[in-house]
Amino acid sequence: MAAVNAELRFEHVSFSYGTVPALRDVSFSLAPGERAALLGRNGAGKSTVLRLVTGLVHPAEGTVSVGDWDTRGRAPESLARRVGSVFQHADQQLFARSLRDDVAFGPRALGLAAAEIARRVDTALAALELTAHAAEHPYDLPPAFRKLAALAGALALEPAVLVLDEPTAGLDRPLRARVARALADSAAAGVVVLVATHDLAFAAEVLERSLVLDRGRVAWDAPLAALLTSSERLAPLGLAPPAGAALSAALDLPGRPVRERDVAHALARVAAARGPV
Ligand SMILES: Nc1ncnc2c1ncn2[C@@H]1O[C@H](COP(=O)(O)OP(=O)(O)O)[C@@H](O)[C@H]1O
Ligand SMILES: [Mg+2]
Repeated sequence: MAAVNAELRFEHVSFSYGTVPALRDVSFSLAPGERAALLGRNGAGKSTVLRLVTGLVHPAEGTVSVGDWDTRGRAPESLARRVGSVFQHADQQLFARSLRDDVAFGPRALGLAAAEIARRVDTALAALELTAHAAEHPYDLPPAFRKLAALAGALALEPAVLVLDEPTAGLDRPLRARVARALADSAAAGVVVLVATHDLAFAAEVLERSLVLDRGRVAWDAPLAALLTSSERLAPLGLAPPAGAALSAALDLPGRPVRERDVAHALARVAAARGPV
């Protein structure tokens, strides 16, 4: 799906809002196809990381790059050729007369040909199962659908990097599953997926790596499953494990799976191995 594949790289990045420090010496890189959760308490710096990726702000020190592009020399409109984003309250930022027009806004701004715009919009709407709503006015749809529409708009850019801030807030289980599928498909196509979230159950289903920020610093960068099955690591962050991961850790299931389906399979295998009671 991605027009290009590119690595996302933070090298010794620091950033302050005036005198308020937000990030200090943050370094990490995400390879094409990696899916990472950006975690941490409120104020830890998650949204600031995402703003840096989109070029809304630039580092005071250090470098943020997307493939061979340094974000510093680029405005968000230019970075949009490689970076798709959905920020919080995205459902309030739709403005076109139809869902289809809203999703087409980004590809149009890239100056693509009409047929290519149509192809991308169709693909993005289908990825989120919104095709049937394409002609509707965004504000005739429930806010949760508008959130999916904002994500469709980001997918239609066919970015190398997709950054999302709390994409599942306000979504019910079926809609969260749509988002999960769309992100998995994007990653499979080589897109870097970085999601700031408090929704660990969602993260467990879709994301594989975890970056935890603590007061602007990277406090943990490792597989998400290792974090979710360690209450010693989660508790200081003010986080509780999702049910599946908690069960996996409590029963010490082989491989400590965290996805619901994997936990169910592991439980079934353990039960079968024990034989009838
Ligand atoms: N627009 C802003 N102006 C001033 N300070 C800000 C602004 N946005 C965030 N901050 C501060 O920067 C730090 C990191 O915030 P943020 O990146 O929003 O964290 P998170 O998304 O993890 O809650 C916090 O101390 C926050 O108060
Ligand atoms: Mg935030």
